[in-house]
Amino acid sequence: MAHGVTKVGVIGGGQMGGGIAQVAAVSGFETVVCDLSPDQIARCQATHDKLLARGVEKGKMTEADAAAAKGRLTYVTDTSFLSESDIVIEAVVENAEVKRSIFEGLAKQFTGDQILATNTSSISITEIAAATDCAERVIGMHFFYPVPVMKLVEVINGLATSESVTQRTITLAEAMGKTALPANDRAGFVSNRVLMPMINEAFYSWMEGVAEPEDIDGIMKLGCNHPMGPLELADFIGLDTCAHIMNVLADGLHSERYRPCPRLEQLVTAGRMGRKSGRGVYEY
Ligand code: CAA
Ligand code: NAD
Repeated sequence: MAHGVTKVGVIGGGQMGGGIAQVAAVSGFETVVCDLSPDQIARCQATHDKLLARGVEKGKMTEADAAAAKGRLTYVTDTSFLSESDIVIEAVVENAEVKRSIFEGLAKQFTGDQILATNTSSISITEIAAATDCAERVIGMHFFYPVPVMKLVEVINGLATSESVTQRTITLAEAMGKTALPANDRAGFVSNRVLMPMINEAFYSWMEGVAEPEDIDGIMKLGCNHPMGPLELADFIGLDTCAHIMNVLADGLHSERYRPCPRLEQLVTAGRMGRKSGRGVYEY
């Protein structure tokens, strides 16, 4: 195989890590998914079971294919079980210090030619790679939510990422049924530099009384043909993730205009993270 990958390790079994692991397993890769939280890893497995069963019901895959995908998935709470992986894809909270500490550990654990990829939405790949002694093997492999549905992987090289690691990552993304498109290592890359300020402006529009959430979302859905309105989308992505991304944009692009809207910050402080916590802008 051009990408030299048969075994995929995923760190983080939340919305994104769970989706990445599912798509990897359905695409034929032996996949180990690791989350620190036993509750979260159990939820991840239950979600896989539900979505694979739904795929069979809808005639998207045979029962045998779903069973084979399940058989390729292993759920763990300790990264030592990832050791056989040819690539590790990190998908934990959008926090540079947490990611740097994970990559520092991964560099010690994986000393061969394994790819160390991050699904970060916005954080500098160069900054994450600087926590390792193998920056040439560190790359941004940015999937979109929900991973089984969204076609894109944004591929971001750090300053030192090697050409062969980039090529292997692109080939792997394609083997997972995705289109890989490149972006340079600037805060938010392309996707979130463009998307997240729009979402933040929707929170300002709400906070300043320009319109109520349902109308803001309705206006953007019906008037701009977006599949979801920006506030609905923020709840879908996770409000904590949106706020983290805005702070990375503000720091990385050196402009306070990117700071998260106070209304967004307030909801996060209240524990209203969006769909994943049952309440965000809306209740679920
Ligand atoms: N997980 C897995 N699959 C899901 C899902 C989820 N959370 N939510 C929906 N789906 C699947 C459904 O099972 C369905 O699959 P089938 O076609 O196989 O039946 C398919 O998506 C369509 O779902 P629905 O018919 O129920 O609903 P819909 O037509 O309204 O589409 C949607 C749902 C695809 C999510 C659509 O509303 C949409 O495209 N929303 C915008 C999503 C988006 O912008 N994502 C990017 C977020 S930004 C990001 O990811 C980057 C970042 O760094 C923050
Ligand atoms: P999430 O909150 O759903 O999941 C994060 C998971 O990481 C949690 O299950 C948590 O228990 C786990 N975790 C935290 N620290 C860990 C550690 N040290 N080891 C193992 N597991 C750990 O978040 P998410 O939406 O899946 O986002 C994860 C990453 O993906 C973030 O960097 C985010 O910016 C990025 N991302 C998110 C989206 C989105 O739409 N939500 C899209 C693309 C990229």
